[in-house]
Amino acid sequence: MIASSHTPVSSHLTITHLDHTPASEITPAGEDVMAGLSQPQKTLPPRYFYDERGSQLFEQICSTPEYYPTRTEASILRKYAHDLAQRTGSCELVELGSGSSTKTRYILSAYDQLDAPFYYVPIDVSQEILVASAEQLLQDYPRLQVQGLVGTYEQAIAHLPESPVGARLVIFLGSTLGNFSAADCDRFFVELDNALNPGDYVLLGVDLQKPKEILEAAYNDAAGVTAAFNLNMLAHLNWRFGGDFDLNQFTHRALYNEAAGQMEMYLDSQRSQTVHLRDLDFTVNIAAGESLHTEISRKFNLDHLQADLQRHHLTPRQVWTDDQNWFGLVLCQR
Ligand code: AVI
Repeated sequence: MIASSHTPVSSHLTITHLDHTPASEITPAGEDVMAGLSQPQKTLPPRYFYDERGSQLFEQICSTPEYYPTRTEASILRKYAHDLAQRTGSCELVELGSGSSTKTRYILSAYDQLDAPFYYVPIDVSQEILVASAEQLLQDYPRLQVQGLVGTYEQAIAHLPESPVGARLVIFLGSTLGNFSAADCDRFFVELDNALNPGDYVLLGVDLQKPKEILEAAYNDAAGVTAAFNLNMLAHLNWRFGGDFDLNQFTHRALYNEAAGQMEMYLDSQRSQTVHLRDLDFTVNIAAGESLHTEISRKFNLDHLQADLQRHHLTPRQVWTDDQNWFGLVLCQR
């Protein structure tokens, strides 16, 4: 395993940094922004949503009345986490993009009751969030052993530690998979296939296709939190790269592209404008009415997804949904 440091924080908590990424895999900061803004359809990479303010806004989106995915997924986990633990038996729980680990508690509680060794490997780019949420969890689950990995999904999947209990369950919740293009999703499944041992499990939380009105409302909440989240990306680029995006000259737009089965978010330019990113020595002209494409959020069809997983040697074992079939949890086994 590639790791720059391996720090025991307490007898039940270790933090490992996965930052020895080969130079060939690193995209220098800002190159992705310049590349996106140089395309005919200007795009901005969704990773720039998540500075501190952006992460707070995302948390707020999750509790707007219109944004159903978070609470729907939580309701499925609340109902079926014990079923999940019974099916997999004792496993090391690995979570990609663990954040505050809120929904994970349903799963941890179910594994706690199995009365077997109890290991959790949360993976997040933020060490602060990892340590803070692990310390909270250790108060509530005294038997738990936590090995936090600081790094990206790709780094973590490529350098997963051996499981001390044999099988692993890798969970990827919140329909973050929907923010990957079809090609990135394919690459992700290949990486999982390569990293896991036969018998290991994967649990994916995915948002499902549904009427356009429900989807568009979820990304156009009445309180304007999603609009603020979308616009905040420009504020982030301004502070990170010395930019001069005028947030008042862009408006949020989110629509469902039915043919592609995905929500799409844009920032529409209200006038012809020139933007500079001083630290990147980069200038871009944006026409009146021109849009910057900031996000796709794919909405899944469970049959297609399961066929796709099967093609990557991840055999679907169980699907759980809510009463309205709005959100799905798919358990598959390598
Ligand atoms: C993080 N991700 C799954 C969210 C989504 O629904 O695609 C991000 C988001 N964008 C707008 N609202 C929420």
